[in-house]
Amino acid sequence: MKTLLSVENLRKRFVSAERDVAAVDGLSFSLGTGETLGIAGASGSGKSTLARLLLRLIEPDAGGITFEGSDWLSLKGSDLRHRRGRIQMVFQDILGAFHPSATVNDALGDPLRIHGIVAKAERSSEIARLLERVGLSSAHATRPVRELSGGQRQRVAIARAIASRPSLVVLDEAVSALDVQLRNRILELLVELQRENGISYLFISHDLAVLRAVSHRLAIMDAGRIVETGNTTDIINHPSSAAGRALIAAVPRLTPGGRPTNTMQKSEPTHEP
Ligand SMILES: Nc1ncnc2c1ncn2[C@@H]1O[C@H](COP(=O)(O)OP(=O)(O)OP(=O)(O)O)[C@@H](O)[C@H]1O
Ligand SMILES: [Mg+2]
Repeated sequence: MKTLLSVENLRKRFVSAERDVAAVDGLSFSLGTGETLGIAGASGSGKSTLARLLLRLIEPDAGGITFEGSDWLSLKGSDLRHRRGRIQMVFQDILGAFHPSATVNDALGDPLRIHGIVAKAERSSEIARLLERVGLSSAHATRPVRELSGGQRQRVAIARAIASRPSLVVLDEAVSALDVQLRNRILELLVELQRENGISYLFISHDLAVLRAVSHRLAIMDAGRIVETGNTTDIINHPSSAAGRALIAAVPRLTPGGRPTNTMQKSEPTHEP
């Protein structure tokens, strides 16, 4: 498998008068093309900070990121603007990212325009194509985003993320707010998109059942570092780190030897990276 992303000894501190937090504290990992790496870790372990560093929303204090074969952190100005669309993010709820009256057309038109994906004349047909791809119809295009259901909004968020044709999508608790059925349908959609386009995912979730269903590999974060990484099922069955054991012990149905419940449709990702 070709390496898409490699992160070396990344560090980010947040310093204020009251606090000094090493949010990301010497973090290293790599991700292959078409691979899904699950990231689990207690609240405050630095998962969202890692996501923001990858998106270049904040800058690290030290360390390196190699992405698509080049130094991601040295990109600046127009070079950065041109390449930005290659890494996209899906949050728990996209509403906060929009003007209250923004329509689906606005949500999907922006990345197409900003990243110059298609000519202006083809924008509406590209929006229709994206909507269809995520299981919505072009009739949704004129609807305000805030009037959509949670599941429909997450589909729009995914369509927006793939609009710029990224090779990496970072999902930060992207399905956590959805009920089990909707969640499973969104996970299936993500796996389909990966099969079609070879997208890689960095899948951040506190839900180990979700990670077990989608991740090819799992990394456990604790205090800004990856303390354990490997095959998802192996880690869930035999966590070697204290942080991994604590996360798994907190989910009764994942206790080694415990019976699976109907919240899990499959215990292993069925797709190959
Ligand atoms: N902008 C910021 N300013 C100051 N401290 C911050 C900032 N962003 C994050 N932190 C701190 O960095 C640490 C890591 O935060 P982060 O949001 O990355 O955790 P997380 O693993 O995503 O947690 P959760 O599971 O609750 O989302 C926390 O102690 C947090 O308070
Ligand atoms: Mg977070």
